[in-house]
Amino acid sequence: MDTVLSGIRSTGNLHLGNYFGALRNFIRMQDENRCYFFIADIHSLTTHPDPKELHENVKNVLVDYLAAGIDPEKSVIYIQSDVPETIELYLYLNMHAYMGELAKTSSFKEKARKQPENVNAGLLTYPTLMAADILIHNADKVPVGKDQEQHLEMTRKFARRFNNFYGVEYFKEPVAYNFGEELIKIPGLDGSGKMGKSEGNAIYLKDSPKEIEKKVKRALTDSGPTEPNSIKPDYIENLFTIMRVVSTPDVLQHYETKWNTCEIRYGDLKKQLAEDIIKVTSPIRERILEIEKNDVYLRKVTKEGAEKARESALKTITDVREIVGFKKF
Ligand code: TYM
Repeated sequence: MDTVLSGIRSTGNLHLGNYFGALRNFIRMQDENRCYFFIADIHSLTTHPDPKELHENVKNVLVDYLAAGIDPEKSVIYIQSDVPETIELYLYLNMHAYMGELAKTSSFKEKARKQPENVNAGLLTYPTLMAADILIHNADKVPVGKDQEQHLEMTRKFARRFNNFYGVEYFKEPVAYNFGEELIKIPGLDGSGKMGKSEGNAIYLKDSPKEIEKKVKRALTDSGPTEPNSIKPDYIENLFTIMRVVSTPDVLQHYETKWNTCEIRYGDLKKQLAEDIIKVTSPIRERILEIEKNDVYLRKVTKEGAEKARESALKTITDVREIVGFKKF
C-alpha cells in the first residue's frame, strides 16, 4: 500500500486547474492507498494575507475539498498549521538546503518578480517546507499539476541528501503523480499559459452556471482558420485543452474536425464548452453550498484529521531527532 499526499495553498476557492491537476487524481486514489490531504495555510503566509481573511480562506478550501469528493472516512484531511511537527522537520531540512539552489527555483524567481517589495526568507525556503509536508508522512506519490514538478524534484534531492549525510535509508524519494498519465497543466481562458488564482483567469468549482457561461464567452478567439489542418494559435489550443478534460471524445473530435475543415464556429464551441464545464462543477457546487453551512461537521473533520496526521508526523519527527543526534540526558 502506498502513502499518497497532496496539498493546496489556502489562498481562495479551488479552480478547474486545481481540480484536474491534483484533486481528481487524489480522489481516484483514496480507496487503495493511505491518503493524506492538507491545506497549506503556513505556505500562504509567504504572501502576507490579512489575518481576518485567513480563516475564511482555509474554510473555503476545506469545503471545496470535501464537496469535490475527498472523503474523511477514507483519507486524512488536515490543516498544515495543526501539525507543528512539519515545521520542525522544515527547520532540519533547511540546514541542508542551500541558498544557491533555493534561489534558482522557478517559483521563487517568479514570486520575487511579482512581489519585489516582499522577497522574504519564507518564499526562498518554500520548497523545503513543501518537502517537509511530504516527508513528514514519508509519502510515495504526490498527485500534483505540472507546475509542481520542480518542487518534487527538490523534495527527492533533500530526502537523498538527508539519507546520505546521516548514513540512513530513512526517507523515500516521492514522485509527482497523475494516475499513470502525464502531469497536466490547465490553461487560462485569456490566452495565458496557466489557469491560476493570482492570474485572475480562473473558473472556480463554486462559480454559478451563469458566471461560467460569461467567463467562457469572454475567452479570446479570432476570425477562425483560413487554411485546412492549420496549427492552432495558443489561445485556441487552450480551449481544446480544457475540452479534452471536460468533454466526451466525440465532442472533442467534432470540433477538431470543424477546425481542420475551417468550419469552426467559436460561438458553438464556447456554448458546448461552458455546458460541459457546468456538468463537472454543478454537482460539486451544490455540495459546497450544503457543506459550508455545517460548521459542526467541519470542526469534526479537522479535529479528527489533525489527530491522525499528528500521530504519523510524531513518529517521523521522533525518528528524525534521533537520527540528527539529539539525545535525552
Ligand atoms: P497550489 O495551491 O498552487 O495548487 C494546488 C494544486 O493544483 C495544481 N494546479 C494546477 N494543475 C494543473 N493546471 C493548473 N492550471 C493548475 N493550477 C494549480 C497544482 O499543481 C497543485 O497540485 N506548493 C503547492 C501546495 C503544497 C503542496 C505541498 C502540494 C504545499 N505543500 C505538498 C503537494 C505536496 C501549491 O502552491 O499548490
